[in-house]
Amino acid sequence: MKTQKVTIHTLRQMKERGEKIAMLTAYDATFARLLDESGADVLLVGDSLGMVVQGHDTTLPVTLEEIIYHTRAVVRGTTRAHVVGDMPFGSYQTSLEQGVANAARLMKEGGCHSIKLEGGAVHAELVRRLVAAGIPVMGHIGLTPQSFHQLGGFKVQGRETGGREKLIADARALEEAGVYSIVLEAIPADIAREITQTVSVPTIGIGGGAGCDGQVLVCYDMLGMDETFKPRFVRRFAQLGQTIKEAVSSYVSEVRAGTFPSDAESFTGVESRPQHTGALYSTAGTKK
Ligand code: KIV
Repeated sequence: MKTQKVTIHTLRQMKERGEKIAMLTAYDATFARLLDESGADVLLVGDSLGMVVQGHDTTLPVTLEEIIYHTRAVVRGTTRAHVVGDMPFGSYQTSLEQGVANAARLMKEGGCHSIKLEGGAVHAELVRRLVAAGIPVMGHIGLTPQSFHQLGGFKVQGRETGGREKLIADARALEEAGVYSIVLEAIPADIAREITQTVSVPTIGIGGGAGCDGQVLVCYDMLGMDETFKPRFVRRFAQLGQTIKEAVSSYVSEVRAGTFPSDAESFTGVESRPQHTGALYSTAGTKK
């Protein structure tokens, strides 16, 4: 049976039915396949890859070419999920023309199903142009990591005087401009709940509390890849950092002891099985 793909319309229907949306970041085909097969509705090729894949301190150095490269890999690993390509810093801030041209490149060369960009009312006109060009847009307000230096760090947003009103106005402006969804990052749960009840498009929280229409986490964070990184809004659903270290230690010990590889993991000069072609794998990746 053909898999039903998640579209921006599916996400809208999920909000209307009160079904929560599960979104995660993904940066390569193997992870994308695992997350997709496990039921994630949306995969975001986030510019967070600058931090968790490339090892930078912020997302600022990530280029459009890098996002396109990773997006292509994620799309190849995905069957059901909706894939969102993240517009990196500097790829849409210069002019409306630049924003539309780069978003079109990301859709065309990356193969994603929609794009995400950071910022509220200030980008409403760009959102309008993108939507008119047939490019679905996910907004992102609250803590917008591309404004790290302006915000003075990774901090909860909306607590200052007028902060609540500004966030609600930003969400409304994005909705009016035509976004199909809005990420709410690191804002008080009551503000996120109010925005969710105010706008008709699904809200996706990260550090926005349980009142959002869905949740997103950086996949490396929720899988516990970095044992030293545990902000309050992250729940570790696995301890893969520890698991990987244990597996690699076993491998190193077995290689050093000469117990890996065994005879069963080695080849002989004559293949006893009839019709064996000598190929190591079938195209589906199963061992011959
Ligand atoms: O880049 C990213 O991973 C993101 C999510 C945290 C929403 O923007």
